[in-house]
Amino acid sequence: MDFASRLDKVGESATFKYSSMAKREGVLNLTQGLINYRTPSRIIEAAERAMREGKTSYTPTRGIPELREKIALKLEEENNIEALDPENILVSAGAKQVIFEAVMALVDRGVEVAVPNPSWVSYEPIINLAEGRIVWLPLKLEEGFIPGEDFLSELENSNPQLIFMNSPNNPTGAVYPKKVIREIVDIADRKNAWILSDEIYEKIIYRGEHFSPGSIYDKTITVNGFSKEYSMTGWRLGYCACPEKGVIDKMNIIQSQSVSCATSFVQYAALEAFTEEVKSGVKEMVSDLGNRRDLLVEGLGAAGLLGYKPCGAFYIFPRLGDGDDIKLADRLLEEGVGVIPGSPFGSSGKGCIRISYGFIPRDKIKDVVEKLSSIEL
Ligand SMILES: Cc1ncc(COP(=O)(O)O)c(C=O)c1O
Repeated sequence: MDFASRLDKVGESATFKYSSMAKREGVLNLTQGLINYRTPSRIIEAAERAMREGKTSYTPTRGIPELREKIALKLEEENNIEALDPENILVSAGAKQVIFEAVMALVDRGVEVAVPNPSWVSYEPIINLAEGRIVWLPLKLEEGFIPGEDFLSELENSNPQLIFMNSPNNPTGAVYPKKVIREIVDIADRKNAWILSDEIYEKIIYRGEHFSPGSIYDKTITVNGFSKEYSMTGWRLGYCACPEKGVIDKMNIIQSQSVSCATSFVQYAALEAFTEEVKSGVKEMVSDLGNRRDLLVEGLGAAGLLGYKPCGAFYIFPRLGDGDDIKLADRLLEEGVGVIPGSPFGSSGKGCIRISYGFIPRDKIKDVVEKLSSIEL
């Protein structure tokens, strides 16, 4: 049987594959891109209420107006992205769907897209589905995976229609300083390129501050969602915003011809995420994650396995040598530690592993450090 050639360069998500292999009795599971917290009960109750009230039909394709209004206000108050009309916002079935729609709306066959290397495993396949051409922007562990000279000069020498940014970062945990974001924006501006700023880990920062390029550059599609901050990965709810409404309109066409809209009662439930009660629960969760991060940074650092300090998200991306990271991840799994190999995140991930501490209780971190330190590389 023949299949469409656009799938030739696209495979199954490495994170989903390794996560399912690590779900075994006795395995310290460091694969998961989620946090071991329940969705806040206010959100769950609001979903139940919405269903009972019959809010179970299609919604406007862009999302319910009440939610888009709350998002516009949040972006103004917390991200300095001012005066967005709810029509400039698109709510969808997860940030991943939003990113897919943005790429489909902006990238034609052969068009250049600049992507940090390493970066989240789904950017490359999504761009490949659109048959775009990826220009990799190298990040270095020695620079804490913060864009440096080589990254900026590669960007300067490219001709991208779209530039990906993701801070706080998956897989490295890096938080980009404002100055660096400004430098990237300057280049984008000169090249009249779009920026896709994936801010899904925005609230999970231990050192440094979040800065949204959308606050200084109108051709920025700011992407965010409810999955990580509110432990809602399975609810599938994300959104994006852009002062240039044209791109949102095009993405909305793709949305209306694919998922139609995000799930109705999930959108009503998400209104609760903007309450003070839920926000303070998020702060407590981030403080717990921060303690886990400190223990890991200290333990792995003392064992000589780290080499930089991740400041956000809940990932660490150490390099454990020049060997084959896929074989290494397989071997670690046999020895009872589930991690994601580094190379699916890009060629700069060779020899690295991605450790997620989102799903591991604090009292297990000592075991993680001991296991990783004792494995012969
Ligand atoms: C950097 C990044 N962007 C987007 C997503 C997708 O989030 P969602 O669950 O909202 O689709 C993830 C999920 O792991 C991620 O790590």
